[in-house]
Amino acid sequence: MRQLTRVTLAFALTLGAGLAVAGIAPSANAEASHESEETFTLGMKNPLPPELFDSNLVVTVGEPLAEPVAQPIQFTHERHAGTLGMDCTYCHSNARKGLHAGVPATSVCMGCHALIDTTDRPELVKLKEAWDKGEVIAWNKTHDLPDYVYFSHKRHVVAGVACQECHGEVQTMGVNERVASLKMGWCLDCHAQHPSIDDNYGTKAELRRAELKDCWTCHK
Ligand code: HEC
Ligand code: HEC
Ligand code: HEC
Ligand code: HEC
Ligand code: HEC
Repeated sequence: MRQLTRVTLAFALTLGAGLAVAGIAPSANAEASHESEETFTLGMKNPLPPELFDSNLVVTVGEPLAEPVAQPIQFTHERHAGTLGMDCTYCHSNARKGLHAGVPATSVCMGCHALIDTTDRPELVKLKEAWDKGEVIAWNKTHDLPDYVYFSHKRHVVAGVACQECHGEVQTMGVNERVASLKMGWCLDCHAQHPSIDDNYGTKAELRRAELKDCWTCHK
């Protein structure tokens, strides 16, 4: 269904100034579910010849959950954000400040782990050895948008969107999972209905929603 190629996107964006957007309307039966296979039709007028740009581009909202990604150390959010009740931004402090939430430096871990017994705890031994040798722990990414998409953590977190709305109940997860498809339709679906937009913009909420549909909001 997603028949457009990356080449088409680059071309469409180059000509973006002339790309008049009539609107992106979720199909009538679209619901805010990450599990279901809902589709959106981008009803847009554009100056491109149809063979170069499909004006009825269909994007997918839901996708099956990704397999957990293998990690160099079996760190669990369940222990740290769950049992120990640590705040997400204790380790992902950049989420309030920048585009990326980032993963914590080993020094953040050692604030506690320098004092925690590693006897018969192979995962904690790996952590301590990496620290002693000054090695950076190469965490693998679970979430990774294509480079042509602009996304800012700060903007969402400051607006009042909870980490869990996009990442699921991370504080109950063993090895980190990805619960959202990260597809374009997923972004649009939330932008079309998130209540914080009414709270933060009042009578201008519809105007803000319209801005959020603009291709340039996410493809700069
Ligand atoms: C606020 C203190 C604190 C910080 C900061 C902290 N930990 Fe822990 N961690 C603990 C405690 C307490 C345990 C449980 C130890 C035990 O069972 O004896 C633990 C357990 C673990 C375990 C064992 C498996 C698990 O998840 O239960 C791993 C691996 C681990 N931590 C890695 C890390 C890494 C990597 C970081 C940095 C990103 C980190 N920890 C930061 C306190 C902390
Ligand atoms: C003790 C530090 C610590 C705390 C507290 C913590 N995290 Fe993490 N987080 C990590 C580490 C280390 C990784 C990289 C390993 C992994 O993916 O499990 C990570 C990875 C992630 C990822 C995946 C990143 C990617 O690769 O795409 C998400 C999402 C995430 N954390 C969200 C949260 C949320 C939400 C909370 C609060 C409920 C939280 N974290 C609390 C240390 C922490
Ligand atoms: C509106 C949805 C949304 C919210 C809210 C959100 N995230 Fe994310 N998060 C994403 C997306 C999308 C990515 C992938 C970003 C990329 O690849 O550029 C991501 C990536 C991450 C990563 C991987 C490292 C990085 O920065 O790319 C971590 C860690 C993370 N988020 C933690 C958090 C934490 C902690 C919170 C709450 C303080 C949070 N996120 C709130 C959507 C969200
Ligand atoms: C769970 C809801 C939710 C999801 C999912 C979500 N967003 Fe948002 N996003 C919001 C809200 C709410 C705002 C409005 C923030 C404001 O205007 O204060 C917003 C605003 C934005 C903005 C405007 C930032 C600016 O500087 O004006 C961009 C860009 C954006 N989102 C990109 C994305 C992308 C890309 C995705 C998907 C990968 C995504 N969002 C997924 C809720 C969400
Ligand atoms: C709210 C953010 C957002 C807005 C607004 C947005 N996009 Fe996207 N777009 C994304 C994300 C995220 C992806 C990457 C994930 C995917 O492939 O669905 C993407 C991917 C694409 C792709 C590549 C699809 C593929 O199959 O490789 C095209 C083409 C595209 N967008 C065109 C547009 C056009 C044209 C508009 C304006 C009508 C638009 N987008 C508006 C977030 C957005």
